[in-house]
Amino acid sequence: MAGPNELMAAIAEVGVDRRRGGYSRHVFDDAERQLREWFTEQAEARGLRVEADRNTNIWAWWGEPGDDAVVTGSHLDSVPGGGAFDGPLGVVSALSAVDLLRARDFQPRRPLAVVVFAEEEGGRFGVPCLGSRLLAGTIDRDRALALRDPDGVTLAEAVRSFGADPARLGCDEEALRRIGQFVELHVEQGRGLVDLDRPVAVASSILAHGRWRFRFHGQGNHAGATLIGDRRDPMLPASRLVLEARRVAAGTEGGRATVGRLVPNPGGTNVIPSTVDVWLDARSPEDRSTRAMVTELSALAREFAAAEGCDVAVTEESYGDTVHFDTAFRDQLSGLLDGAPALPTGAGHDAGVLAAEVPAAMLFVRNPTGISHAPEEHAEPDDCESGAQALARVLEHLAG
Ligand code: GLV
Ligand code: MN
Ligand code: MN
Ligand code: MN
Repeated sequence: MAGPNELMAAIAEVGVDRRRGGYSRHVFDDAERQLREWFTEQAEARGLRVEADRNTNIWAWWGEPGDDAVVTGSHLDSVPGGGAFDGPLGVVSALSAVDLLRARDFQPRRPLAVVVFAEEEGGRFGVPCLGSRLLAGTIDRDRALALRDPDGVTLAEAVRSFGADPARLGCDEEALRRIGQFVELHVEQGRGLVDLDRPVAVASSILAHGRWRFRFHGQGNHAGATLIGDRRDPMLPASRLVLEARRVAAGTEGGRATVGRLVPNPGGTNVIPSTVDVWLDARSPEDRSTRAMVTELSALAREFAAAEGCDVAVTEESYGDTVHFDTAFRDQLSGLLDGAPALPTGAGHDAGVLAAEVPAAMLFVRNPTGISHAPEEHAEPDDCESGAQALARVLEHLAG
């Protein structure tokens, strides 16, 4: 029997990123594989039956796998240089909730499973929630198989070297049918619970959000020998786009726009780049306003590119419409948890992908820093305990 803090401590050294700070755990890399093995051992030690699904998500079943199961879990991958809690807290809380229920001699009347979704952050192949999107069939499998990581390795190749069969990837009706209800516990990624002075909340909604790649193409050349007037430097329109992203988001109700990744090619100090790739992450409460931000920024990118004698190609890499979590389900959870408040989130989650297919809900655990996707992300031990207890109460109620 282990509490969430003990389990978090057990994986604290896995995937520490000494260069960036925080954790870098990307799908199928050494750290992520180590976490998969660790999870499998932990689940098996609890007598859970562990299996991988067609999309390399891991399932740990309490009793026989079956339809209409109560499923909980989250992910073990991270963003580059991410915090300790985003993902793992949901997984360790699920294991710990199983322990709490066992200690009460609880016997589930419905199948109960803990799931670990693959590539939730899209940190390697660029599409977030890839494991749940594949399972739910909301990403075309051939498109997914052709996704490339920064080294040019395709998802198909990575899945094969991991030891799974890429031909089996894609919509998994059987796995989907088994999910009767899904509840994901997650560290909060803002200060909502701090402001409310509460340890645990239920999620109300997720912003409409996506990722777009802008590839600016110019003429690679010599930094010293090329006169300013002769340049076609793609870094110019790329930089202007970054500034406009801030302006457009600031003018959009609830809008956010971020450029967290910008790659000049070839990337030399004394080289005018031939191309610059800019990844835009855009979010807002409504599909319409998120789309409008991207439409406006795409038009500006074309204008800025033309002004520098460059061109630009815009590719949508992922998108998810606004999620409104099922009100009756979240009210039910809130009722079980002493009136836990409902909070919206700007972050994407596997629960958001699944919400379009099955009843899904989320629990948030207070984060005193309000910071996430950075090493300062935090949750106090007492709050992690409260989260695991809350999850146990929910599972007990749903599966009992
Ligand atoms: C994932 O956490 C995201 O919201 O980008
Ligand atoms: Mn995240
Ligand atoms: Mn997460
Ligand atoms: Mn996420």
